[in-house]
Amino acid sequence: MPVIPLDDHHWALTTPSSTYVIGVEIDPDTGEAAPRQTYWGPRLSPEAARQVTGLPRRHVSSFSTPGEVEELLPVDGGTRWGSPSLQVAFGHTRSLELRLAGAERHEEEGGAERLDVLLADAHHPFEVVLSLRVRQDTDVIERWTTVRAGAEVAVTRLDSGNWFVPDAPAYRYSGVFGAWAEESQLQRGPLPVGELVFTSRQGITSHVANPWVMIDAGEATEEHGEVWGVAVAWSGSWRLTTTQRPEGGVCVSGGFGHEGLRWTLAPGEELVTPSVLGLYSTGGFGGASRAWHAYARGHVLPTPFEERPVLYNSWEATTFAVTEAQQLELAKTAASLGVELFVIDDGWFGRRDDDTTSLGDWFPHRERFPDGLSGMLDGIRDLGLRVGLWVEPEGLSKESELYRAHPDWALHLEHRRRDEKRGQLVLNFARDDVREWALGWLDRLVTEHRLDYLKWDMNRPFTQAGWPERGAGQDLVWIEHTRGVYEVMRALRERHPGLRIESCAGGGGRVDYGILRYTDEVWPSDNTDARDRQTVQHGFSQLYPASAMSAWVTDSPNPTTRRAMPLRYRFHVAMAGVLGVGGNLSEWTSGELETAAELIAQYKRVRRTVQHGAQYRLAGTPGQERSAVQYVLDDQVVVLVYNPLGNAKRGPRTLRLTGLDPEALYELETDGSRLHGGTLMGAGIRPAAWQPIGADHRSELVVLRKL
Ligand code: DGJ
Repeated sequence: MPVIPLDDHHWALTTPSSTYVIGVEIDPDTGEAAPRQTYWGPRLSPEAARQVTGLPRRHVSSFSTPGEVEELLPVDGGTRWGSPSLQVAFGHTRSLELRLAGAERHEEEGGAERLDVLLADAHHPFEVVLSLRVRQDTDVIERWTTVRAGAEVAVTRLDSGNWFVPDAPAYRYSGVFGAWAEESQLQRGPLPVGELVFTSRQGITSHVANPWVMIDAGEATEEHGEVWGVAVAWSGSWRLTTTQRPEGGVCVSGGFGHEGLRWTLAPGEELVTPSVLGLYSTGGFGGASRAWHAYARGHVLPTPFEERPVLYNSWEATTFAVTEAQQLELAKTAASLGVELFVIDDGWFGRRDDDTTSLGDWFPHRERFPDGLSGMLDGIRDLGLRVGLWVEPEGLSKESELYRAHPDWALHLEHRRRDEKRGQLVLNFARDDVREWALGWLDRLVTEHRLDYLKWDMNRPFTQAGWPERGAGQDLVWIEHTRGVYEVMRALRERHPGLRIESCAGGGGRVDYGILRYTDEVWPSDNTDARDRQTVQHGFSQLYPASAMSAWVTDSPNPTTRRAMPLRYRFHVAMAGVLGVGGNLSEWTSGELETAAELIAQYKRVRRTVQHGAQYRLAGTPGQERSAVQYVLDDQVVVLVYNPLGNAKRGPRTLRLTGLDPEALYELETDGSRLHGGTLMGAGIRPAAWQPIGADHRSELVVLRKL
């Protein structure tokens, strides 16, 4: 039983290797209820968990040591001074005084259990439900909050939950940050005393930061040590506040929205947050990542165990200048290489010759495709390829038939400018009519062309975002837009079970555990330079599995960075995720095409392991020095080895594998030699690409089979 009642007010939530103990403390003087976390760490027996609840609490002094860091949802109210996870105003009165109204345990599908702790304000008709879900096959705990208004209330902060990280002598934080073409840069450092806020105010997940943070006690390594991770499963604006009190005590509170938004609820309305996910792991950062990946496969991704096809995408080759003849030519070459899915990117619709027009006009470009898209798409399918199209359903160009007909469909504020970014505005997916319109044309497009795949792009963060007709409630568009996007994706998939969707937002602006419920893979960055991409992939892999990471081989020199790199290196980097090709194949030499075909065939032999296996980041800073990444599934072991700077004297030359059976024999595919797992993990192998003197950008694929 994952949720174990310890007494009337305490519960132990048990996952395969962790325990999370919570209890509701009631102030004897005021009657105020504060649900608290009393333990989050290695798995305890129910008896030990019960003992934990009896241990003396942290010392709380009346001057400066607030107890709220341990609360499951510290509210703005009572004697608290920290960053509130829940803040509301009843008319002119802020401050909540919550009383315990009950607790319910629910059995859910698949052996999951949910605990709901019910609270109610002492005076105002306002209820709060804290929900916690545990499952028997993952250490990830899902938490969320529901608030119900009995009278009008303005909500100015509503986090999904606050997580307390147990006391340690020192703390570090890890997270990924970035910018366009430089997403998912891993940052790790000492956790400062004070409040550290990672946030997106963009209405989308953003390139600037990804909605997760991991805390360790300053001593975790890639494969050892305790790590506490928190991630917000949401694709709109979000905020994660990590607090380290000067007196000690660390907590991470996370949820949707950013500061300044005000969600007004009418009597009878409720607001439910997305989930915030918490994971405790003792296997270092690598162990934590593998636990996140397994959670994604087990409980998030819609098609977790499918082998993702090798795709070709024409964006870098043709940009907006899409024509039937040139796409068919590319498709012919792509098919001859072993590519399985052909995706036509931006430029096929409206009068889309550049990024200034036509978003909203989802009919074939009249000059380029006077007879429609069927000739081109059927021609591609006749080559044995699956077919996909780029769309940006939330995009709206002022220069479009749609905008002329429905200017009010754009997110906008009364008496404010409608500034464009990348020549566009954002359609308000909170509106029923907009969602109906979007589902209508997407459904027709997919049906008419039997599309296998959509690349769903979103190139415009929100600004001046509102819905004037909704008056005081209009800030809810920051939530309802995202839910509207989820809903259209969900309904589209329901109508077309074979359809697969890629999430993209001007590169990696929408990568998170919210969108991964509705999409099969995501585009991590518009930067396709293999060296830069290694850094991006390293950051991506901290939370998300390789099966969700789209990666293309493009031209050399790279169109963005101008860096030249051998084809093999570019392939080996892209083979670490879902392999795609995005170069201008009409300019590749016959030798390059031959190598590409050979590498695609190799990828197909290992892709199940790469995409769905346990991933180990073996060594080195990817993209900057010798590094390697290993995947293990069933009897196959796949290692991708990289050496960007051939003549570097420093760094390891021996590569020790990990996660193998020490007693078993493993056979190397290249020469048939057989080594014990113990030898491979203890002594290692000496990859040719890592030996000292040689060219820059050497790489290799090592495949072993367990006998
Ligand atoms: C941004 C995406 O990240 C690119 O891959 C491409 O699809 C362009 N948009 C098209 O406008």
